[in-house]
Amino acid sequence: MDIKGRNFLKLLDFTPEEINGLVELAARLKADKKAGREKQMLKGKNIVLLFEKDSTRTRCAFEVGAYDQGAQVTYLGPTGSQMGKKESIADTARVLGRMYDGIEYRGYGQDIVEDLAKYAGVVVWNGLTTEFHPTQILADLLTMKEHSDKPFKEMKFCYLGDARNNMGNSLMVGCAKMGIDFRAACPKSCAPSDELVAKCREVAAQTGAKITITEDVKEAVKDCDFLYTDVWVSMGEPDDVWAERIKLLKPYQVTSEVMKATGNPNVKFLHCLPSFHDLNTRIGREINEKYGLTAMEVTDEVFESPASIVFDEAENRMHTIKAVMVATLAGEYK
Ligand code: CP
Ligand code: NVA
Repeated sequence: MDIKGRNFLKLLDFTPEEINGLVELAARLKADKKAGREKQMLKGKNIVLLFEKDSTRTRCAFEVGAYDQGAQVTYLGPTGSQMGKKESIADTARVLGRMYDGIEYRGYGQDIVEDLAKYAGVVVWNGLTTEFHPTQILADLLTMKEHSDKPFKEMKFCYLGDARNNMGNSLMVGCAKMGIDFRAACPKSCAPSDELVAKCREVAAQTGAKITITEDVKEAVKDCDFLYTDVWVSMGEPDDVWAERIKLLKPYQVTSEVMKATGNPNVKFLHCLPSFHDLNTRIGREINEKYGLTAMEVTDEVFESPASIVFDEAENRMHTIKAVMVATLAGEYK
């Protein structure tokens, strides 16, 4: 895999070999860090992290990954820069491109991160947009590999819930690229766009993947190795969608019955996090009071069960994001 100098904006831009190469590089970096023999490939590099939305995992993964590799990091939060307020994306990109070797962006439209990449003249990484969350998928793939003895091409995977958000979209692309049997269980109004499904089916025709979009939970989860869900309302969506979304998506909640309906006693549960599995947070308590729910997209029972591998997945954000930085900035790890 040689992706030195390439932007990391969406998985559709990468071949299965390149995606697999990043997952394998992450596994090597993880093993080396744990054995205390990690080599630093990014000494002298400067990295800027632009966040127009909140983050725990992605920000910390970029920071720790960069520091482990010897790079310096600047964090600019939602209120910390001129970007998008007094200064255009194009001008911001050209300024930051003069100072930094790499730019991470988390925020709104995919067009913003694509524009940053167009003007920056340095490598740009997508840390989540409304449409895609590609670094998350690398962590998911690494976690699936660690928890299964099957190759990707033999895995069966189901995503339940809001399948047209950044996670639904990116998981469908990632599974198509890796030859995985992908199912989305969702109401019609939360299905990924016909255009993206068609693109993924084209990829699937080359890789042997399968893409199924259905409203039928039982049919979707049958024989699955992995069930995955995400929040029902994403960052940046208006508050008035909660009531409608809860009504629409409640039948797609991941419960112990849904886990059992796979027929696979070894099925694993994944979630990009943060999750509303218990509602003991500020927003969670508001939801509980307003709608009388005790959990949203996944029950606490499933989230806390031995089948849940969500914290391995969260840790893998760091190893995979580090792999993306090393591969795109240094080109090799040896
Ligand atoms: N999964 C994920 O992107 O988490 P953060 O929003 O905390 O970065
Ligand atoms: N769909 C979620 C993912 C968070 C990692 C959001 O965009 O808020």
